[in-house]
Amino acid sequence: MGDRYLGLVNSPIGSAVASRFGLPRPVVLRRHEPDAPLLPGPVLLGAATGGVAPRLAELLSAAGADVATADAEGGAWGALVLDATDVSTPEQLAGVRTFLAGRLRGLLPCGRVLVLAKPPDGTDITIDASRQAIDGIVRSLAKELQRGATANLLLVEDEASLESALRFFLSGKSAYVDGQPLRLGTGLAPAPADWELPLAGKTALVTGAARGIGAAISAVLARDGARVIVADLPQAGETLAAVANRIGGTTLHLDVASPAAPERLLDYLAAHTDGLDVLIHNAGITRDKRLANMKPEPWDAVIGVNLTSQLRINAALLDSDQLRDRARVVCLSSTTGVSGNRGQTNYGATKAGVIGLVRSSAPRFAAHGNSTINAIAPGFIDTEMTAKMPMATREVARRLSSLQQAGLPIDVAEAVAWLSSPGAGGVNGQVLRVCGQNLVGA
Ligand SMILES: NC(=O)c1ccc[n+]([C@@H]2O[C@H](COP(=O)([O-])OP(=O)(O)OC[C@H]3O[C@@H](n4cnc5c(N)ncnc54)[C@H](O)[C@@H]3O)[C@@H](O)[C@H]2O)c1
Repeated sequence: MGDRYLGLVNSPIGSAVASRFGLPRPVVLRRHEPDAPLLPGPVLLGAATGGVAPRLAELLSAAGADVATADAEGGAWGALVLDATDVSTPEQLAGVRTFLAGRLRGLLPCGRVLVLAKPPDGTDITIDASRQAIDGIVRSLAKELQRGATANLLLVEDEASLESALRFFLSGKSAYVDGQPLRLGTGLAPAPADWELPLAGKTALVTGAARGIGAAISAVLARDGARVIVADLPQAGETLAAVANRIGGTTLHLDVASPAAPERLLDYLAAHTDGLDVLIHNAGITRDKRLANMKPEPWDAVIGVNLTSQLRINAALLDSDQLRDRARVVCLSSTTGVSGNRGQTNYGATKAGVIGLVRSSAPRFAAHGNSTINAIAPGFIDTEMTAKMPMATREVARRLSSLQQAGLPIDVAEAVAWLSSPGAGGVNGQVLRVCGQNLVGA
């Protein structure tokens, strides 16, 4: 299942051969390590139109970054952070070029470009066009960056979640998030007492936790301090127990597609917990066939597991007294739900449906004691699900992203854990892609 090409191309001979024949040269990405520095080098902080918000420098320093300002010369940069929140005319976009152009060559491997802008808000056409233009710059730049570096855009409507967003997007936790905009809105987003344990004291439940992405999410939530209930089909028995043992969690046999699932879940929570703080809707299946050949069974099965289950369980939780205030719900979507995929009309329906669910339920969750609901849309992730693909298709799919490699379950898990944390309370109703900037589709 592992990516042999990635290993080969990072050996001295493989690297020389790849370079000689113009083959893709993915690098081993920088991922989170406990006690590792936030970045591989200092942050250069600049502004597109003048002054940087002073709070930005403070937050970066508090996160452990060594911050230099835009008049610093030369240098090898761990990150280039640009405050473009004041951009309101097409002419001011030149400030983005001025700050970045000469400095990109100094960006270290697996460095970060992070641009902050205001989201278009419909009040002025020129301002909105100029703000939207920044999205085009960042997406295009992400396609140009090399050696594992990424570029992302924070659309800062409100600063509540800025601190935790900076820590996520600059760190190795966002290794496979590339070319993405994310809106930071209003909400209660308290800084945790300990940034290494943001989920201390929280109870989390992960569906489909016996393997793959669900097992990785469970491990990361436990690492971040949560008590984790790992749920999966009864037939996942021993593998599920092994996951629970590894992370000190508890197991729950739950077929999320069963009409009885919401009641079973509520009964379990009432008997064994003080309520749920974090719910991860991860269970998912594929039953691929082109629509012309699609029979009712695979259609219904995929809709039932991937979408209806989430709708039913959310509705039951919101109507119960088992969902605590400031709860976090994260739903697994897919880039297939954004761009579609041949042979996956059923799966695409559910993963797009999850995006609709998240957007539409956000106000309802906000009204439930400042809770949030968001979606993660993974791209191509190396798991048992994708191991079933034909080898040639899998190998091509792995290279078709700006980072020229598949993501790992841990990459999805880190993004899920961030959205589950108290500090992400200003992110609600959003979809974050963890796809290395898929080159195919949207
Ligand atoms: N792997 C990828 O590249 C990828 C890409 C995009 C989205 N996703 C999504 O991420 C999630 C996890 O994917 P994965 O690759 O780890 O899948 P996987 O097939 O490896 O694991 C899915 C888990 O869900 C469980 N499950 C299936 N039906 C269930 C049900 N009715 N009730 C409870 N549990 C059930 C399975 O037993 C299994 O443990 C899915 O929602 C998937 O659609 C995966």
